[in-house]
Amino acid sequence: MDLDIEIIQKNRTTRVVGRDIRLFKTVTSTNEALRGLAKAGAPEGTVVIADEQTSGHGRLGKPWFSPPGVNLYASVLFRPPIPPREVAGFSFLASLAIADAIKAEGLEPTIKWPNDVLVDRKKVAGVLVEFATIDNRVDYVILGVGVNLNVPRDALGAALGSSGSAAGSLHEAAGREIDRNAFAASVLNRLEAWAETYRTRGPAPVLAAWLDRDILTGRRVEVRGEGVPYEGRVLRVDREGHLVLRDLLGKRRRVLTGEIRLCA
Ligand code: BTN
Repeated sequence: MDLDIEIIQKNRTTRVVGRDIRLFKTVTSTNEALRGLAKAGAPEGTVVIADEQTSGHGRLGKPWFSPPGVNLYASVLFRPPIPPREVAGFSFLASLAIADAIKAEGLEPTIKWPNDVLVDRKKVAGVLVEFATIDNRVDYVILGVGVNLNVPRDALGAALGSSGSAAGSLHEAAGREIDRNAFAASVLNRLEAWAETYRTRGPAPVLAAWLDRDILTGRRVEVRGEGVPYEGRVLRVDREGHLVLRDLLGKRRRVLTGEIRLCA
């Protein structure tokens, strides 16, 4: 079904998130489109949704496969009064909201640090976090959410090559088509609920809920993308949202941006 702003608005129960939704047929990247609005002073809760992205991207500069007519590509603007070091923990709102929306579809999601959402061990969603600061305070945070809803398996395989087998879709997991408009509203509703929890009670309950779904704590992993790759065991996630590991030499290390692979 086509994305329809009226249906999304009808299903939205939020006060702030999504009060202004801009829906596009095609954009380069919803994050990029929202960044322009953020710089021009758009208020918290502004949302950009697109049917298709021609240059969708993920963490570490990787492309995000964004074909038309099948998935959710959305970016949401926040202006939290937090210092920049707390943005990583704040971003956990996004994977929590996606996971809640997926659970409401009858599936069992898990989260892989920092914000990958998996179903049946396959990645079905990711989050691209961008932020800007003024005088060492956060000006805005953009949470860019990509969820594979109905993309067919053969299209994933063709686009992602050998890594296609690590990706999945909700359609594949649930065995039925997922309603894009209802799912979009569901994510926005849950994002606002978690943002409200963060605002009123701070990062601790958000981190606790996130840890409930986390699949990495206690596991042996390989870290790439932060200098020389290394292996270690995940000890915990700290309150600023960084992954804390003990490497094979017994040294404690914090991962800020790296890519994590589970060792067998
Ligand atoms: C990742 O897993 O590395 C993050 C993927 C994030 C993809 C979404 S789709 C909407 C928004 N626009 C982008 O260009 N990226 C995010």
